Formats: sequence, structure tokens, C-alpha cells
Amino acid sequence: MACETRDTGEFKLVSRRKKRVSRVRNSSDPNVPLPEDDNDDNFSDVNCEVLFGRLLEAETELRSTLFADNVFHSMKSSLNALNVDGVSEILCYGLGPFLRLKSSKYQLALLLSLKNHYGSRVYVYDPIFSSKEIEFLLRFGFNVLNVNEEGKRIVENNVTLVYMPHCATHLTNNFLYANWGERLCKCILLTNSFSAVVDNLTAANRSGCIDYIVRIQPYVTEIALRNNFPHEEAFNDLNLHIFLEQDINKIPRNFWNEREEPCYRNTTIDYFTAKQTEQIDARISNYVSRPTG
Ligand SMILES: C[S@@+](CC[C@H](N)C(=O)[O-])C[C@H]1O[C@@H](n2cnc3c(N)ncnc32)[C@H](O)[C@@H]1O
Repeated sequence: MACETRDTGEFKLVSRRKKRVSRVRNSSDPNVPLPEDDNDDNFSDVNCEVLFGRLLEAETELRSTLFADNVFHSMKSSLNALNVDGVSEILCYGLGPFLRLKSSKYQLALLLSLKNHYGSRVYVYDPIFSSKEIEFLLRFGFNVLNVNEEGKRIVENNVTLVYMPHCATHLTNNFLYANWGERLCKCILLTNSFSAVVDNLTAANRSGCIDYIVRIQPYVTEIALRNNFPHEEAFNDLNLHIFLEQDINKIPRNFWNEREEPCYRNTTIDYFTAKQTEQIDARISNYVSRPTG
């Protein structure tokens, strides 16, 4: 894995971590009920403007931290290494219920900060969003996706930051599958650490269900983000991942040809499938297409 040093701005190799007990939260428990209707948050009695103000405050709070400085510094180094000068799009899966969960609130704050800094178009999807959360996301100028892509969105020929805070590893694996090939060079992934995910695999499942993460991991430059955010659980185990042209060029062509759609047979799928969220997606469509005002 490569890690960027703050002093020199260069990437240096860091050794793979020893196996450890993971604190990565990477599973959407399918037993947790999804929101079904309109009255799906506990804030119906709290003034919307107050809530909206709190989200803006969270962004201001986050922006003033050393952690935010780290993120923006590492983003700048990543963009330099990729020889590009901005982030056109941000794709965010699995932000979580940010009106209820502190981690998600600060993850949203970072998303807002990144959007404001780079002037990026933002696409978000999480089947857990309540109607109020969707309204806020729209007010922030985000595009709320109304289709569960199961992580398989194909990025345009634009620099795209893929932000999946503590998302299921299967979702990340799906994203890699969908964009398998040189287009990965256009992506910066802010996700659970690939090296931690691979290190935590047992020998038995190494060649199994998250094959795309395992196969690409030797060619990824992983930039460790020091997690000194006051609410530690919001950003633990999240790193930046980039695909440098010189590393991707070393990959033999036939490496990319092996590209079968991931099939998580004999294992519990750790995200909500499109089938499971059909009704929710229909509800999201209603909100997204509703005239605002
Ligand atoms: C482990 S939680 C992480 C929540 C939050 N980001 C955090 O760090 O606490 C995983 C999130 O992924 C979301 N999720 C599950 N299936 C998804 C899918 N198909 N597409 C996008 N998000 C999904 C869940 O609803 C949940 O909010």
C-alpha cells in the first residue's frame, strides 16, 4: 500500500497491516427494517429550518478541524498524482440516516465541504433515507438517485470521487466490477481501506466473493487518512484509493477481460438489493420529482 507523507507530499510504500480485528462496519443488516412511509424519522416536531441549520453548522464545525485539513491535503496530492485539477462528480452511496446518526451527519458535512470546495455535481443514494432527509439533500443541490444501482454506476469520462463511508464491501466490489478497466484511473475512492479489507479475509474466502477488490488491491495506491476527527467513529478505517496510470499500465490486458458479474452465492449479501428496495425506490421517485417550493 502507498501512503502519502505530509512533509514531502510524495507517496511512500507502507507495509501491509497485520491481521487484526476489524472495526470496519461494512454490513447493512438485512434484518433492519427499511423506512416504509412518510413518518419515518423522529423529528416531525422539530422545525425543519432548525434541522437544516444544524447540518450547515456541522459542515462549519468539520471544516475547522485538522481532519478536514488532512482530507483536503490528501485530495490535493491525489489530484496532482493523477494529473487532474478538480473533481467533476461525487458519487455517494450509503451515507446513512444523517438526521438520526451522528456519524452520518458528519459524513454528510464532509460531502457538503467537498462539493463546495470542488463545485462538483453530487449523486447520492441510500435506501434508508427518510423523506425529510431527501428534501434536505435536494436543498443542498444534490441529485438523489431513485434507483438502487447496487453500487454498479458506471462513471462518465470525468474525475469522480466515489464516497462510500463504511459501506458493505460487496457494494465496493460491485463498483469495481462496473468500472473494471482503465476508467478506474478517473476515480478516487473514499471507502473502507482496501488493505484492511483484504488483510481481514480468511484464506478460504480470498478467491471468493469480493474478487474485484482482491484482484485490484496490488495496483491501488492507498492514501491513509489520519483519523483525528473528534467523533472518531465517523471516519475510522476510511482511506483514499487512487489508480495511477503507471501502475495500471503494468497490468496485462487479459486481467481486465475476466469480468463476470459478481454473484454472492452461499454468502449473505451485505447490502440492500434492488429487489428489496423496489417500493422504497418508487417512494424516492415521488420526492425527487415533486416540485419544490
Ligand atoms: C454500515 S451502514 C453505514 C452508514 C453510515 N455511513 C455510517 O458510517 O454509519 C451501510 C449503509 O449502506 C446503506 N446501503 C445498503 N444497501 C445499499 C445500496 N444498495 N446502495 C446504497 N447504500 C446502501 C445502508 O442503508 C446503510 O445506511
